[in-house]
Amino acid sequence: MSGSAFPGATPDPQAWWRGAAIYQVYLRSFADGNGDGVGDLAGLRARLPYLSDLGVGAIWLNPWYPSPMADGGYDVADYRDIEPAFGTLAEAEAFIAEAHGLGIRTIIDIVPNHGSDQQEWFVQALRAGPGSPERERFLFRAGRGENGELPPNDWKSIFGGPAWTRVPDGEWYLHLFAPEQPDFNWANPEVVAEFHDVLRFWFDRGVDGIRIDSAAVLIKDLDSEEESYTDHDGVHEIYRGWRRVADEYGGRILIGEVWLPDQERFARYLRPDEMHTAFNFDFLACPWEPDALRRSIDLTLATHVPLGAPPTWVLSNHDVTRPVTRYGRADTSFDHADRKHGMPSDPVLGERRARAAALLAMALPGGLYVYQGEELGLPEVEDLPDEARQDPIWFRSGHTDLGRDGCRVPLPWSGDEPPFGFGAGRPWLPQPPEWKALTAEVQVADPASMLTLYRTGLHLRRVLLGDGTMTWLDAQDGVLAFRRESGLICVVNLTGRPAGLPPHESVLLASGPLDGGLLPADTAVWLRGA
Ligand code: NOJ
Repeated sequence: MSGSAFPGATPDPQAWWRGAAIYQVYLRSFADGNGDGVGDLAGLRARLPYLSDLGVGAIWLNPWYPSPMADGGYDVADYRDIEPAFGTLAEAEAFIAEAHGLGIRTIIDIVPNHGSDQQEWFVQALRAGPGSPERERFLFRAGRGENGELPPNDWKSIFGGPAWTRVPDGEWYLHLFAPEQPDFNWANPEVVAEFHDVLRFWFDRGVDGIRIDSAAVLIKDLDSEEESYTDHDGVHEIYRGWRRVADEYGGRILIGEVWLPDQERFARYLRPDEMHTAFNFDFLACPWEPDALRRSIDLTLATHVPLGAPPTWVLSNHDVTRPVTRYGRADTSFDHADRKHGMPSDPVLGERRARAAALLAMALPGGLYVYQGEELGLPEVEDLPDEARQDPIWFRSGHTDLGRDGCRVPLPWSGDEPPFGFGAGRPWLPQPPEWKALTAEVQVADPASMLTLYRTGLHLRRVLLGDGTMTWLDAQDGVLAFRRESGLICVVNLTGRPAGLPPHESVLLASGPLDGGLLPADTAVWLRGA
């Protein structure tokens, strides 16, 4: 590709995150190095060349700490060590160094809202009893009713069931998620100091960024009968403190998991002295409809640009239905409250749209997240055997919500049958036999595969896209067309019929074959502008 028509990416190494493509590794399901059926650091290290070839700038790992796995590692028993099933601290340090050697940064997940009931602090709190300083690290309260037999209030857990659990001495503790995940008391300075120390522990080991789990729910008003924990103003002081810690190191970043419908409230987390970026869930949840997508993109830009914060573009993660399945349904939106399990999905249509969505997301200005398996076009596995399911949502919903296991099935790497090169053992969730057509091995050799589309797109994106601005171009109803400062034009056809293309010099990449110069329905194309 000629360099002259396309100026290269900004070279400021401190600002690496502004336009980075960040690959999300769900370690349990990525690659298994020791044959126990669970993905681990050895497996990930062996596959680093795959991620380098894919063209990603950073890896975000879901929690890798010692954990009883009541919530896939989001129940952290020790914030300063590695889960033995995943490896050791020394292996984590070796991984960070090896990734750096390939120009790939490491982002880890910190879970500040809650720990594990097996964490030493919680064990001490149970032992020390009511009124003790150890209990003050969590949210213990006396119950209501004559004998305290009723919970302190009627709040419900986000995973279903009550948000309070009673301990043998009669007190109750709050857990917004599973009972195995007791919530910390963020009004206690000891909790604040502990997390500053945890951040330093990992920054000292070379970690480049922190993904902050459930970032908006740390402060609660327990006197309120209504559930009152989302987005209290007090939460911002916490992240200002974290930012001061991050700024002691160069080029380290904070990324918020902030699910808030109100963009003005969302933007507060991105003020210059708080987080660097946050996941764009509005875009993720958006249906595959032209007006809704355009509105979501415009809203995202309007929220971020005044703050100087780069937007992020997210199509999937370990909590949501895989895009290929989502986009093949009659209702293409995503909502945690209704995952639409079992709604019929057309796999051909779903894949076509997911390919177009990938080129759209990659072309937009800012950062990009790719969840493992998205680049292989894996579908949601909706028919897992019930006995294999592990998501607490499945258990706490009384088996009415299948939960999130279907997007967490171990990756197919190679071969004709399970475990598809995932590792020598039986994978912790069973892989569908049809995945033999979706292995990385098959796809890397196929110019028309999803993997080839992602690889080509991500490599072009490094040079031509990423951080910056975009300009909408005039286009017929149902077509999204915009130009980036490099001159690249992205066109997405959501009209349901073939559409014409704007004037251009050449076609750089298309999500599917063009039709005699026309752009077929549910197809996206990158053009070199005329
Ligand atoms: C959000 C995480 O992404 C999800 O997987 C987890 O269950 C909850 N936070 C609780 O930590």
